[in-house]
Amino acid sequence: MKTIELVETVTALMAGDKGLLAMDESTPTCNKRFEEAGIPQTEEYRRAYRELIVTAPGLAKCISGAILYDETIYQATASGVLFIDILKEAGIIPGIKVDEGTIGLAGFPGEKITEGLDGLPERLSKYYSLGARFAKWRAVITIGAGIPTKGCIEANMHLLARYAAMCQESGIVPIVEPEVLMDGSHDLKTCFDVTSRVQHALFDQLFTQRVNLHALILKPNMVLPGLSCARQADVNTIAEATVSCLLESVPPAVAGVAFLSGGQSPELATAHLNAMHVMYRDKLPWALTFSFARAIQQPALEIWKGKNENVKAAQEMLVHRASLNNAARRGAYNPAMEKEK
Ligand code: 13P
Repeated sequence: MKTIELVETVTALMAGDKGLLAMDESTPTCNKRFEEAGIPQTEEYRRAYRELIVTAPGLAKCISGAILYDETIYQATASGVLFIDILKEAGIIPGIKVDEGTIGLAGFPGEKITEGLDGLPERLSKYYSLGARFAKWRAVITIGAGIPTKGCIEANMHLLARYAAMCQESGIVPIVEPEVLMDGSHDLKTCFDVTSRVQHALFDQLFTQRVNLHALILKPNMVLPGLSCARQADVNTIAEATVSCLLESVPPAVAGVAFLSGGQSPELATAHLNAMHVMYRDKLPWALTFSFARAIQQPALEIWKGKNENVKAAQEMLVHRASLNNAARRGAYNPAMEKEK
């Protein structure tokens, strides 16, 4: 195993107050976001949007790594420079989403399993030769009546561990993303309990599959009440629940934890990360940062609207949101900074 290289990559990804930018929406997901924003859903618009992101001036000051999607890793700017080369040149480490999305889990109504393990070693070596140094695989866990089941959690965590082992063998740092969805009316405690069960099952499988935790990034959900739960929680309560849950279940050897935003508003996702650092400064055994997609991109996408004349303003908003998350990682964010642009 290329342990030294893997540890160097993970150290660079978790450095300073930076975080990761997830720009790995699959084509259907990207099209859905475009449709909501009134943007045409074509390959050229997706390319132009990703060009806007990777060429945003100042992005590298805030972002250590960007997660690409298979379509995007082969795309280039209008002037013909590959996005992956632009990122490398700027000092942003390119990563790649390698799962192939979810399907229904046979025998388990309402639950999902992630596909994409077949042929993965070959795809990883191709992505490595293109310059990708880390990867992402997302498992989805739904909370509902009688779910998640043990069968669903174990099947998904086993796949995450197999994927992680294959990545490390290829010199690629795995991000393991077991996402407990926000959808539903469950309360904070239910999300805490499910997230805890999922993390325990994940690390059990990671040990069994001989994954090196020093060369691994965990991408968890924050512990939140369901979107339609009548009792929402304040920022500090969520920060405390999230960090307590992770401290109980994530071994200190793990190199880094980088949250997904999961449908929280950008402001709340930032405020939650900030509160975790304010409350637990110097008490965390792992680097704790962000790996947001919507919570960094959404305001910029809404400014862009698919129009050339809006590119500069959209890029400024993208970098502004990323820099607010840098402040959160230092515990130095406050909502008044939202307007300082
Ligand atoms: P969100 O931050 O929009 O939840 O996306 C993160 C991600 O990478 C989902 O797989």
